[in-house]
Amino acid sequence: DLSGIGSPEAARAAKAGWRDRFANELYGPLPEPPLSVSTLRQPLPDQGAERLVIELETRIGKFRTDACLWLPDTQDKPVPLICGLDFAGPIGVLSSDSFPLDPTARAYTRPDLGAPDGRLTDSLRGATSYRWPVDLMHRHGYALLLSCYGSWTPDDPHLWNQQGVAVFATPQDFGAISCWAWAISRLIDVASGLPEIDTSRIAAVGHSRLGKAALWASAWDDRIGTVFANNSGCAGAAPQAHPVGETLEQLRDAYPHWLRPDVDLSSITTDQHQLLALTCPRALYIACAEDDIWADPLGTYEALRAASTAWGYDPTDWPNVEEIWQPGTQPSLPPLGYHIRPGGHDLLPCDWRQFFEFLN
Ligand code: GCU
Repeated sequence: DLSGIGSPEAARAAKAGWRDRFANELYGPLPEPPLSVSTLRQPLPDQGAERLVIELETRIGKFRTDACLWLPDTQDKPVPLICGLDFAGPIGVLSSDSFPLDPTARAYTRPDLGAPDGRLTDSLRGATSYRWPVDLMHRHGYALLLSCYGSWTPDDPHLWNQQGVAVFATPQDFGAISCWAWAISRLIDVASGLPEIDTSRIAAVGHSRLGKAALWASAWDDRIGTVFANNSGCAGAAPQAHPVGETLEQLRDAYPHWLRPDVDLSSITTDQHQLLALTCPRALYIACAEDDIWADPLGTYEALRAASTAWGYDPTDWPNVEEIWQPGTQPSLPPLGYHIRPGGHDLLPCDWRQFFEFLN
């Protein structure tokens, strides 16, 4: 029963309790917030783009990384923001080579793009811009703030706590998903210092493993007004109770650094609809792809329906599963929405178009 989470009196305590359960059982907590965040803005030759050099001061030392900001042309008032981590990050979106390659980053990128050992290379430049359609975002009035997840915490089971943000936290009782969630909150810290951004309208967006991180970030950070988790799958929006696609055991074995270090999967009492409910009363958008069975599109829909009780809905208020398994279907009970599209595991311009329809 998640109904208590939506009522203002009970919300704070109930949410903290659920969040602690997810931290204890699965992801580990988030590292402590930094003491200060400072940003240096450097214009780039690409239209409307700036490199943001970010310095975070922690109790242990200073961590430096970067992100890219794309502001729409017309800004007579502060604009809403799409904020997220991406696999290749800004270099995958920018067409110029003006944004430096981070030699310390380790990221999963498509093998056909020729980046060995998870390093960022020139061959990745501009290769994934379809995932972050800046023009479309600008047409809807949104700015974009994007960073490479592997610069914050290398996506590598040996390096993940040897460099990046984990080095500045003790104890290291969290996994990489918690570090990436923390990074999303740091991007929001950065955005909060930018006069062009309307911080009351921030959407955190992530695909796949970064959709898991966006959901987990939203459980901690109320500044996220909307979370859009695309194909987030196991340990994201897909419930363990629906036995389709990846299991937590498979995820832990393939990516031992993602969950908390000593995770005991036999003692898990939570499931992912409860994670989704931690975004209540804010907006939540979930997108799936028909062929992406590994990420369990139907179980994900059921998790959203179950989570919607936190917003005061009943699961039966939603169309049933047979009805949504139709191209172009977009069931929505504000501020919740879902779509499933044809095709496989990816973040596509059509996912964004449907997301903006939901937002509007
Ligand atoms: C693998 C992994 C998934 C993850 C995906 C991705 O398929 O098993 O859990 O979501 O990679 O991040 O692309």
